[in-house]
Amino acid sequence: MNSDFLVIGSGIAGLSFAIRAAQHGSVTVLTKGKPLQSNTAWAQGGIASVLPEGLREEGDNVQSHVEDTLDAGAGLCDEKAVQSILSGAAQTIEELVDCGVGFDKDKKNTSVYSLGKEGGHTHRRILHAKDTTGKEIAESLLETALQHSNITILEEHFAIDLITSGKLGMVSEDRVLGAYVLNETSGKVEIFRSDRVILATGGCGKVYLYTTNPDSSTGDGVAMAWRAGATISNMEFVQFHPTCFYNPSATGPEARSFLVSEAVRGEGGTLLDANGHDFMEKYDKRKSLAPRDIVARAIDHELKKTGADCIYLDVTHKPKGFMQERFPHIYQTLLGFGHDCEKDPIPVVPAAHYQCGGVVTDTHGRTDIPGLFAIGEVACTGLHGANRLASNSLLEGHVLARRALEKILNLYPLSKSAPEAPEIPAWEHGDTAPPDEQVVIYHNWDEIRRLMWDYVSIVRTTNRLDRAANRLSNLRREVRSFYWGHRVTSDILELRNLVATASVIVDCALRRKESRGIHYTLDYPERDERQRVPTILRRF
Ligand code: FAD
Ligand code: SIN
Repeated sequence: MNSDFLVIGSGIAGLSFAIRAAQHGSVTVLTKGKPLQSNTAWAQGGIASVLPEGLREEGDNVQSHVEDTLDAGAGLCDEKAVQSILSGAAQTIEELVDCGVGFDKDKKNTSVYSLGKEGGHTHRRILHAKDTTGKEIAESLLETALQHSNITILEEHFAIDLITSGKLGMVSEDRVLGAYVLNETSGKVEIFRSDRVILATGGCGKVYLYTTNPDSSTGDGVAMAWRAGATISNMEFVQFHPTCFYNPSATGPEARSFLVSEAVRGEGGTLLDANGHDFMEKYDKRKSLAPRDIVARAIDHELKKTGADCIYLDVTHKPKGFMQERFPHIYQTLLGFGHDCEKDPIPVVPAAHYQCGGVVTDTHGRTDIPGLFAIGEVACTGLHGANRLASNSLLEGHVLARRALEKILNLYPLSKSAPEAPEIPAWEHGDTAPPDEQVVIYHNWDEIRRLMWDYVSIVRTTNRLDRAANRLSNLRREVRSFYWGHRVTSDILELRNLVATASVIVDCALRRKESRGIHYTLDYPERDERQRVPTILRRF
């Protein structure tokens, strides 16, 4: 199948790109599973944006948003990228509203938006749709995309690998030619050709045992880009969200997967220890609303020190009905788990949440493989540095979608045909059908996630990272022989991507011999300004 633009992923980044690109040519959007299975659809708190004067909080401005982002990023943000991306925020909100996104309005003055607050923000600037902002955005974008005759959305199409001229052995300039894709319904591997490929596959939370992310976040984009030879950066910075519901009656990973939005703390929710003390005052003057790296580390420290299983997020002092009105999804979901948060403090623990590093791009999503662009969580633009500021990622995904299209039309205009494409060989299937031994896949999957949680999470040591690297090296060998020996399935493909992404995280973490932002190691507990540079992994 040929198209002018091949988009991999149907979150905010992929769909926003598709909707704009469809005005210029044919767009194919591939997505594994269903189109609304994405981190985007699960986003709660909202989207950070400094709106034009009159609509923003008094005293707020883009420079203040820039400074908060730089502060959270612990010296590793690319300041130009921060300025450039954040200055696109107001346009993003306008365009999302045009697509039908209904952000909440202020109750007293319905001509202005209701603005929320989250950790690390010095002003109220988070636009939201109650506590299901992501669902509102994802559904509006999908509906808009489905109406466009130039857009074909193919669900249950799992991108396996990027096809590049370099990989086909062409000695001339390397460029992207398309992707091999598993049709999850037919089980066949198909070739999708395009000279303009947009990787919008989201993050990698599933690399960890406990995560806020949905099942789709298995690091496929970083793994594919890495195999294709793109440069990867800053993968040691996996952000842990401080407040996932701790649910001891659930068994398995679900026990730590439901997010309780940071916006709850923005509205006065307070973190308490088991004795009811506001322990955050010992760690940061911003207390419960300090940036996430600080709060997650403080919780980890408290839990280890006291041996407690969880800490508590207290909203019982808020007026009755407040949670039901402002955070209905959280209130109802917790009630479904048997917890009434208006009566009792919510037990919470940290969990893996967001990939701050990724495929290196400029502020237009351009990677170092000609024709390949990466946008959204899969990309590393320099916006987040060593720790993302809350609610900056939906924003980045949308701004980058707009900018990537501008750059693509400029560099690879549709009027100009690309150099003749070589013959792309058909996919060679492994000999045997998918193994009955699903158990082997699940065992390896579980082992990766567990070892990443035990050895590569909030507090690290070189010893534990080395141990993780050794185990992952064995697992990579095992997964490779499995992958080459059998017909591919989405389970095998995700396992292959998980082990590759986990290895990249560990590799980056071992290279950073200091503590900065989210990366904290007992062996180098201080920040070292000589290491104030991104971690770069190059394959070739
Ligand atoms: P995603 O939305 O994750 O979409 C990726 C898509 O790619 C999915 O459709 C997936 O199925 C598809 N895909 C992946 N691999 C393949 C493959 N191999 N082949 C085909 N398709 C593939 N950020 C904020 O700014 N504000 C918030 O309030 C907020 N709340 C959050 C709450 C939760 C619970 C979570 C998990 C995240 C939250 N985030 C928030 C982060 C934010 O949601 C994500 O960073 C953002 O949505 C990423 O968008 P994306 O388009 O890059 O990726
Ligand atoms: C949240 O609602 O707490 C998540 C916000 C984010 O990850 O940006």
